[in-house]
Amino acid sequence: MRIVVTGGAGFIGSALIRFLLRETDATVVNVDKLTYAGNLESLDSVSGLPGYSFEQVDICDADAMARIFHDYQPSAVMHLAAESHVDRSIDGPAQFIETNLVGTYTLLESARKYWDAVKADGRQFRFLHVSTDEVYGTLGEDGLFTEETNYKPNSPYSASKAGSDHLVRAWHHTYGFPVVTSNCSNNYGPYQFPEKLIPVVILNALAGRPIPVYGEGKNIRDWLYVDDHARALYTVMTEGREGETYNIGGHNEKTNLEVVQTICEILDAMTPSETLDSYKSLITFVADRPGHDQRYAIDASKIEHELGWVPAESFDSGLQKTVRWYLDNQDWCNRVVDGSYRGERLGLGGTS
Ligand code: NAD
Ligand code: DAU
Repeated sequence: MRIVVTGGAGFIGSALIRFLLRETDATVVNVDKLTYAGNLESLDSVSGLPGYSFEQVDICDADAMARIFHDYQPSAVMHLAAESHVDRSIDGPAQFIETNLVGTYTLLESARKYWDAVKADGRQFRFLHVSTDEVYGTLGEDGLFTEETNYKPNSPYSASKAGSDHLVRAWHHTYGFPVVTSNCSNNYGPYQFPEKLIPVVILNALAGRPIPVYGEGKNIRDWLYVDDHARALYTVMTEGREGETYNIGGHNEKTNLEVVQTICEILDAMTPSETLDSYKSLITFVADRPGHDQRYAIDASKIEHELGWVPAESFDSGLQKTVRWYLDNQDWCNRVVDGSYRGERLGLGGTS
């Protein structure tokens, strides 16, 4: 199986490529524009393998995408390339519309033209669209997102992802294009760009900087270790039913404050501060995110019952591994933070 992975230099894309090259027979073509969030160092452990190729390409570039389909003749696309950070989408939505909507449209059209030829040759092809639970909006105290939950995206990021999901669905309905879509909850683990909650907490604590908690820290997210997501994506792509969507989640609902406090406790045990009794003293409540979704929680019973996927990592074990990884890889963190990100507070609605 030759798979084009878009966004393979990002957090989840790089975990997926490491999984594909180590655990399956697939060969991989990594198509990535290398935005501030893309870093090829995340693939150092596998990029020397014979089944790996890299193309620095923007998915909005139709000619370049046509060349890639022509040159590599893939049997599948796993589409992860996106602008992914909610706070950045509040400050500057334009790039989210460009990559997540126009980029997905351009990729779909390039892939559809390629598929016409593939079909004529009697070959198999499949397009996996990787999306988020944020398309469903926010939950109150009860309930879970199922595949039947209505779309109600609240941020520019989630609206752009919802729009891309609709494009993918329409390409299946109208053209019979062979798609499958996944909607996953919050991922955490090694190689996550230090703008998302968990790496921000770890790195701020280690630097003795305030740990910013938005609002009162009562918002709830449903956490999944990134390697479990990578395995789920492969399962959905190879075994999911065409035209279906699958929710992916780890049954780990936590308030942000719980997550932050747990990380501080792990750091207190692994690398006690020389000046503080506990890293918890750095926790600082700051202005809330505009339009902040209150709660996400996934009903993952469809993928569990239909495809037999279950997460391997508990939140405790996954968080221990993640903190340990950031402690051991601070050089990576320093190197990925280029000029476009200096740790300033994003997401208060300024323009960028
Ligand atoms: P990320 O921001 O870490 O990585 C995104 C990657 O896409 C980067 O390597 C970047 O260079 C690349 N990219 C961006 N624009 C591009 C373009 N126009 N052309 C080609 N490449 C481009 O994102 P992530 O957290 O790894 O998320 C990957 C996907 O998974 C996204 O589609 C996101 O919506 C989805 N998702 C993320 C989470 C999460 O918790 N992080 C959860 C569910 C779904
Ligand atoms: O649910 C899936 C989504 O999870 C993905 O689609 C997104 O790509 C991914 O970025 C993530 O979105 P969130 O907005 O939930 O993740 P983030 O890490 O930005 O924030 C997690 C929670 O922590 C959220 O309630 C906001 C809060 N937060 C975040 C940061 C960066 C803080 O309190 N302080 C912070 O410094």
